[in-house]
Amino acid sequence: MKFSNDFLFGAATAAYQIEGAIDIDGKGLSNWDEFVKIPGKTFEGTTGDVAIDHYHRFKEDIKLMAEMGLESYRFSISWPRVIPNGVGEVNQKGIDFYNAVIDECLKYGIVPFVTLYHWDLPLPLERKGGWVNKETIDAFVNYASVCFNAFGDRVKHFITFNETVVFCGHGYLAGAHPPGIKDEPKQYFQATHNVFSAHAKAVLAYKELRQFGDIGLSHVFSPAFSVDDSAENRWAEQHANQFGINWYYDPILKGHYPEYVTEILEKNGWMPEILEDEKQALIKAAPLNDFIGLNYYQPVRVEKILGEAESVEHSRQNSTGAPGNPSFDGAYRTVAMADKRYTKWGWEISPEGFVDGLRLLKEYYGDVTMYITENGLGDEDPIIEGEICDIPRINFINDHLCAVKKAIDEGVNVKGYYAWSAIDLLSWLNGYKKQYGFIYVDHNNNLERKKKSSFHWYKDVIDSRGENLNYPA
Ligand code: BG6
Repeated sequence: MKFSNDFLFGAATAAYQIEGAIDIDGKGLSNWDEFVKIPGKTFEGTTGDVAIDHYHRFKEDIKLMAEMGLESYRFSISWPRVIPNGVGEVNQKGIDFYNAVIDECLKYGIVPFVTLYHWDLPLPLERKGGWVNKETIDAFVNYASVCFNAFGDRVKHFITFNETVVFCGHGYLAGAHPPGIKDEPKQYFQATHNVFSAHAKAVLAYKELRQFGDIGLSHVFSPAFSVDDSAENRWAEQHANQFGINWYYDPILKGHYPEYVTEILEKNGWMPEILEDEKQALIKAAPLNDFIGLNYYQPVRVEKILGEAESVEHSRQNSTGAPGNPSFDGAYRTVAMADKRYTKWGWEISPEGFVDGLRLLKEYYGDVTMYITENGLGDEDPIIEGEICDIPRINFINDHLCAVKKAIDEGVNVKGYYAWSAIDLLSWLNGYKKQYGFIYVDHNNNLERKKKSSFHWYKDVIDSRGENLNYPA
């Protein structure tokens, strides 16, 4: 029951959620630095101004990760720390910081897995239209090239974008992420297309440098399953997966969009503007992608909306991931089911859905290399006699790693697993209350770090290469 020796056991974080130091050493402001200051946007007004102060404590944090036996660490680079205005001058102190983080990882033999964009867009670019403005595409490719040149000698795994569906969906449909726009499908599809174009052009730029590393992108993977066997709900499942999976992976892996979706977009006037050079870039880059990343937390259970389309009054509360909302096009709704298990935040716990979803991806995209770039349990961890006893997290990760092993044994090509998260960090909309880490951060005591029960458990899993997991009978 061992995972192969080249399988990477890792854990992940993202810059805005850990670094703090938002205006130190030449860093420019990001869209998030501004957005979190709008009343009501985040849980109890929490911000990443200090976060867990990783900017000043990264050596201590990476030392702990090494002690946990981590083989790889996925973290993101803050674009405005490297290029404060988004374009133009490069901030050497920003480059120095990430060089130090990378070198610290390598000192312990930890493979750095670098995300270039985990949602913090330089503020001047957001002000000029953000991802709807095509200038952002070129700005991103320039920023990516700066990173390849600065870090590519030591970083051999790059993720261009994290979860396009989340930052564009929340940004232009739910209004829950910057730029806080609601119900604008036309802008939403334009933003996603611009992101895919930026990805494709960055892949081409990377391959031209011949750095002999791997590049791909990460998507939140929430496969849709019908609530029952009825024809209408089966239709809802297929419809949801076309918009939630194929719209996101087809342009990357096949170099073109799924016809099912484009026909609907044309009919509704939602089709994005696609320039010829962008079309060509998608086609050329498709075979050059080395992997896709999947962030799996939960599947969605769907049923078709019969009759009048429902509308939803968007709020932070109904944007934090629990089922119960109609789809943006009013075609189906996501539902919580009586026979399923849910976290305290209402997210379904389904390792079975993970295996089924991975099978589905293999069916769609064949033998593509995959990394699970996020998976984990958000919880309020119990503290008993000073110990952080996060047993539910241990059970969650155990069951999901077993699901990954099962899929691998069935022939799905998964090369690594990154638990979310390496250390407790800021949840974009849920503040510090919702914890994911193996390492606890005490916000009442100078951000002191403390190992949780799961820290010791994950170390044992890595040491035994998964042999000591509690596999289902
Ligand atoms: C993923 C993001 O969508 O989910 C992470 O990539 C995020 O950045 C994680 O923290 C968990 O989300 P939440 O809302 O529970 O903090």
